[in-house]
This record gives sequence, C-alpha cells and structure tokens, in this order.
Amino acid sequence: MDLILLGAPGAGKGTQGALLSERLGIPRIATGDMLRDAVRAGTGLGRQAKGHMDAGTLVPDGVILGMVRERLQQPDAARGAIFDGYPRNAAQAASLDEMLAGIGRRIDAVVYLDVDDDAIVRRMGGRRTDPETGLVYHVEHNPPPAEIAARCVIRPDDVEETVRNRLDVYRKSTAPLVEHYRAAGVPVHTLDGDRPIETVQADIAERLPQ
Ligand code: AP5
Repeated sequence: MDLILLGAPGAGKGTQGALLSERLGIPRIATGDMLRDAVRAGTGLGRQAKGHMDAGTLVPDGVILGMVRERLQQPDAARGAIFDGYPRNAAQAASLDEMLAGIGRRIDAVVYLDVDDDAIVRRMGGRRTDPETGLVYHVEHNPPPAEIAARCVIRPDDVEETVRNRLDVYRKSTAPLVEHYRAAGVPVHTLDGDRPIETVQADIAERLPQ
C-alpha cells in the first residue's frame, strides 16, 4: 500500500505515521526527518536545506525528488510506503505519481488530518523530539519516557513566528493537493486530527483497505 499523510504542520502526521508504519509493516518516508538528518550530518544537501527549514519555506523540489527517489529504491519500501510531509506542492505530487507509475504502483489512499491553527500553535510549543530515534512527543499530550526525556530537543522551526509562516506555506502550496487527489479518483479520508492520538489511529486503521 502507498499512502499519503496530508495535513498542516503539527497536525500529527509524524505521530500517526510512526504508529501506522508499525501496524502495516511498511516504512514511513518523512522528508522533514530526512532533511533534519542531513542538516545534522552537515552534508551538502543539509547545508542547502537549512536556510529554507529555519525560515519555514519549502526546500527546492529537485533536492526532495532525488532524496525520495533514492529512498524508494531501498528494499524495505518494495511493498509500499507511508509518505509523510511529501508531496508538498503540485510539482512534487506529479513527480511522485510518475515515480510510482515507473515501478507499477500508485497512491492507494490519502489520509488528511484536519486540525485548526490554534491547536497547532499549542502543539508546536510543547513538541519534543528524540534526536536518537526521531520519535516525537508532547510535554502534555504524549510525554517522553523519563529515561530519554533529558535528551529530547525542541525543533528550531517550532517558534511561533516560523510556525505561522509554515502554516501560510501549507495553505498556499500543500492544501490544494486534497483536491488534486480527489480529482484523480484517489480515496481521500478526512479525519478530525484534534482527538486523542489512539482515537485518530483507530479511525485511520478503520478506513484503510485491509
Ligand atoms: P516537516 O518535518 O515535514 O514538518 P511539518 O510538515 O511542518 O510537520 P511537522 O513535523 O511539524 O508535524 P506533524 O504533522 O508531523 O506533527 P507531529 O506528529 O510531529 O518539515 C519541516 C521543514 O522541512 C519544512 O518547513 C520544509 O522547510 C522542509 N520540508 C520537509 N519536507 C519537504 C518537502 N517535501 N518539500 C520541501 N520542503 C520540505 O505532532 C506535532 C506535536 O503534536 C507533537 O508534539 C505531538 O506529540 C503532538 N500531537 C500529535 N498528535 C496529537 C494529538 N492527536 N493530540 C495532541 N497532541 C498531538
């Protein structure tokens, strides 16, 4: 199964994607995580991406395309993937469709997590990420286990001004993809993402083809 998780920054794509990946036994391909790894490793790609990420704007499509193409060739993605934070605009959606068609696959479903802006800003303020596993937590809604709490970090782009900018970019470039996939006949499941994590996960599982 090839599945896209769509939603505003902080809608819960990473949280739900990690749970789904375990449940379905297919990898989560999260371009934001891949870019953060490249920034941490100080690679050329990371240096190219950092300014865009800190400003909350999109990293150029060519960089993203190369990264996803390479990741899709890994053996663990042979049976499908969960795309998280990608595609993010019409050009990326078109190149993903093309890439999948080239290996005889297509997007089977889109899960759109709907969360309002105020809830998002509150979530970002409390988000903590474990740099070793990439898993995300929230100081109130999903606190990290005590043994790893000290090493969890705040993402540099989670300051309110950058979050607002990311929301603007999302509205302009990414939100129209809901219509893109609907028009292409791909099932788009719209879910209220402002419910407990387990409730959202159960709702997603119910709607996906078994
Ligand atoms: P990326 O890392 O993809 O960030 P994003 O899309 O803005 O999404 P987030 O990771 O912020 O949020 P999420 O929806 O995964 O929510 P999460 O589960 O963490 O991208 C970062 C940057 O990289 C971009 O700005 C851009 O510059 C660049 N980039 C990435 N991909 C790109 C691409 N394809 N093209 C171009 N540029 C790209 O949850 C958020 C918080 O809420 C957590 O603390 C979590 O614990 C909590 N939470 C989750 N669910 C719930 C719930 N149900 N109830 C209460 N709290 C919850």
